[in-house]
Amino acid sequence: MAISISRKKSRLSKKGEPQEVGSSGSALSKFLYRIPTTLFIIFLVFLWSSSTTIISGNIVHVCVSSRKLNNHYCLSAGTQPSYEIPILPINDSSGIGTHDLKSVINEVANVVLENPLLPFNINNSIDKIKDEEFEKAVKEVDEQLKKHRSWISTSSGQATCDGKGIYVYDLPPKFNRDLVGQCGDMTPWVDFCKYFTNDALGQPIPNLGKSWYQTHQYSLELIFHSRVLKHPCRVYNESDAKLFYVPFYGGLDILRWHFKNVSNDVRDTLALDLVKWLESQTPWMRNSGKDHVFVLGKISWDFRRNPNSKWGTRLLHLDQMQNPVKLLIERQPWEVNDIGVPHPTQFHPSTDEDIITWQMQIMQSKRKALVSFAGAARPGTVGNIRSTLISQCTSAANEKCQFLNCSSGGCDQPNLVIELFMESEFCLQPPGDSPTRKSVFDSLISGCIPVIFDPFTAYYQYPWHLPADHGKYSVFIDKEDVSDMKVNVVERLMKVSMRERDEMRRYIVYELLPGLVYGDPSAKLDKFQDAFSITMNNLLERVTRLG
Ligand SMILES: *[C@@H]1O[C@H](CO)[C@@H](O)[C@H](O)[C@H]1NC(C)=O
Ligand SMILES: *[C@@H]1O[C@H](CO)[C@@H](O)[C@H](O)[C@H]1NC(C)=O
Ligand SMILES: *[C@@H]1O[C@H](CO)[C@@H](O)[C@H](O)[C@H]1NC(C)=O
Ligand SMILES: *[C@@H]1O[C@H](CO)[C@@H](O)[C@H](O)[C@H]1NC(C)=O
Repeated sequence: MAISISRKKSRLSKKGEPQEVGSSGSALSKFLYRIPTTLFIIFLVFLWSSSTTIISGNIVHVCVSSRKLNNHYCLSAGTQPSYEIPILPINDSSGIGTHDLKSVINEVANVVLENPLLPFNINNSIDKIKDEEFEKAVKEVDEQLKKHRSWISTSSGQATCDGKGIYVYDLPPKFNRDLVGQCGDMTPWVDFCKYFTNDALGQPIPNLGKSWYQTHQYSLELIFHSRVLKHPCRVYNESDAKLFYVPFYGGLDILRWHFKNVSNDVRDTLALDLVKWLESQTPWMRNSGKDHVFVLGKISWDFRRNPNSKWGTRLLHLDQMQNPVKLLIERQPWEVNDIGVPHPTQFHPSTDEDIITWQMQIMQSKRKALVSFAGAARPGTVGNIRSTLISQCTSAANEKCQFLNCSSGGCDQPNLVIELFMESEFCLQPPGDSPTRKSVFDSLISGCIPVIFDPFTAYYQYPWHLPADHGKYSVFIDKEDVSDMKVNVVERLMKVSMRERDEMRRYIVYELLPGLVYGDPSAKLDKFQDAFSITMNNLLERVTRLG
């Protein structure tokens, strides 16, 4: 695991010029009265390091990441006076990181507390600092989600395209088509070619019905691209456009390097080429990319490579990439231009009828199990609650809880997972390698009420597709209560009344479901708006308000 502290680059500052510093005691007294208490922790980590790299700018983020897993968390510490912030690696013998905000704060606090150079005893105030830091970080996420929700379009699906043209760039093929062509060689163990057939929906799954396909969870870039090419507001002349869609398959770009031994320069080549290409385009330069949108089908951290890591690219760290909107299956919670959109599921309706038929099927489905969990334990991951949940599930009486063991291949067939969820009232959705899970969407579209243990799994991610009132569609059980053995999840869920379950299920199935799925590329939906239309309408709304 690595803990790094980096500063978000300010637009006006010299771009990321690395410098070397040692920890300088003389600076200490200068800083102490200037830095807010919440920054004190960060400053101490700074002292703790001896030789480090600096990035200039004006916002501090403390990031904890794991080199093995593709994920890390940052906590933001806001604006502060101009002093240098180091990026430092902390070696953790377990090699596996923790990924939630509270653990990160504890982690940083522990580093501070164990520091032999600690100038004085801060034990008394450390808990207060931790609480303040947590509250601040959560408040910031909340404000961003409010802003995202303020862009929700109120006009119905039939709004006109007047003044809302969408221009789709015709990128050189190396930025999209050629990447799809590398499908056979993306990762050592999965041949992506079969997933990219059929307009990237994959092969049909007849057992589940006519609109079901073996869609890969990383296919969103292709799915969105096919749809936007057929959008009724698409224009072919840049000067008629309000919104510019850049069909770069950035997720596929990095996927092909994840498990190959190549230098970081190789990993970043295409991202840098893309930015250069965009800078030769008049519309990009006109508004510095503010009216441009990217769809990236992997999690945000994959595009924000930690300086000490070889995982992913720096695409979203590039200055030029700050202005455009990035639609991602998992957003970086403190980046306002990262907007979460649903992970693609395997259900792709083409008509209103397809949706209605499915809604009826899952409302009538007999739910034999109270609870189910489809997943794998994460035994090496400190603080992961999955093992506890599995043991609570498998020891529940009267088969109240069904466990589908993904470690033994039980989840390879999507129909087994969906069928299980269709027969369950509640589906447990603990975080895995990263906080979000495709499984949350599998459970929602199966009419199974998701049980969420970490707000970053859903509540802080999808402002356009899930309502702020999360009690309408999910049950929240704090993962700390699970790890402290304060709650038995199965017993807790038994206490949710039949009426409440029914209300939640009706809301999920009738209100949310249509907006969580991506229709097939030739979808003709009149009555419903799917995840794609909702997203496009809100993007147009936002860009119209930019003026
Ligand atoms: C701070 O608290 C920790 C654990 O509570 C303890 O091990 C450590 O010695 C304390 N440090 C100081 C400087 O009192
Ligand atoms: C695009 O529209 C502008 C303004 O209406 C016009 O001047 C230009 O010729 C058009 N370009 C093409 C390629 O049609
Ligand atoms: C990766 O490549 C570098 C440079 O060619 C080489 O030194 C290193 O041993 C390789 N590592 C692995 C695990 O193959
Ligand atoms: C799940 O499968 C793995 C691999 O086969 C096995 O080691 C583990 O014990 C199984 N878990 C349970 C709870 O059955």
